Amino acid sequence: MNNIIKKYFYESENFSIKHEKYFSVYEKLLSRFKDKEITLVEVGIHNGGSLHIWKKYLPKAKIIGIDINEDCKRFEKDGYIIEIGNQNSEEFWEKFFNKHNNVDVIIDDGGHTNSQQINTAVCCIPHLNNGGLLITEDVHCSYMHEFGNPNKFSFINFSKKIIDDINFKFPNLGRFKYSLNDYIYSVQFFESIVVFEINRDLCHFNKIITNDKKNHNIKDLRYDFKTNLFERQIFKKLKILRKINRIYGIFKIRNFNNKSLKKFKKYFK
Ligand SMILES: C[S@@+](CC[C@H](N)C(=O)[O-])C[C@H]1O[C@@H](n2cnc3c(N)ncnc32)[C@H](O)[C@@H]1O
Repeated sequence: MNNIIKKYFYESENFSIKHEKYFSVYEKLLSRFKDKEITLVEVGIHNGGSLHIWKKYLPKAKIIGIDINEDCKRFEKDGYIIEIGNQNSEEFWEKFFNKHNNVDVIIDDGGHTNSQQINTAVCCIPHLNNGGLLITEDVHCSYMHEFGNPNKFSFINFSKKIIDDINFKFPNLGRFKYSLNDYIYSVQFFESIVVFEINRDLCHFNKIITNDKKNHNIKDLRYDFKTNLFERQIFKKLKILRKINRIYGIFKIRNFNNKSLKKFKKYFK
């Protein structure tokens, strides 16, 4: 067995059930924290099997387990911090972060409903340390009838919105009323797992810079379809027409897109 996390899964004296594919994902995501004194929180303890995995893989980490079931308190005797509460409650998370304010990794393996996964994301992301991760497991539930899906407000749709949100850091593209783009630096999608990487420093406002080196005035052909030379000459001459040129350029790109993208339609099916 070449995956150490899988080995710890089998070694645990407590029951756990996991998708086999998750082990390589966890190794990829968590290896950076090996031998670091981080705090890892897992939502959803159940029989305690996965707590053992994290403790073995990250021996220097503080491991906190959260479950709605008070029975899970029994795992405190094994050296874990156990908090009993509802991941769907904003008050729970407020109290939690008042007590534990230095969290690096959160693994959400709780109830897997849209509201539990979204509430956990919105309540936890602003509190995670820079370089930290929110790992949400079993996001395939966003496609399952048993979980009230498909639904406009599923967790996977929330995650897709975050893609737009982080791209809106680029000036003047758009803006959401509710945004997490001062916290989320990147998003990773695996089968059944979504990962939000937190880094406030790297989320800084995006600006375009040059290196001020020798400019050979080589024509940039990226925008050649916008306006042709003849059109540019006319627009250049007449100042008033510069605005029109811009609008005309947009019109031309749209037109170009409509024509040239038709053949790609099949890739969106
Ligand atoms: C899939 S099990 C966790 C399995 C465990 N992580 C493992 O890998 O062995 C889900 C757990 O989430 C807990 N849970 C369900 N809804 C919850 C909620 N709203 N808040 C906190 N925990 C919840 C359940 O009690 C259950 O123990």
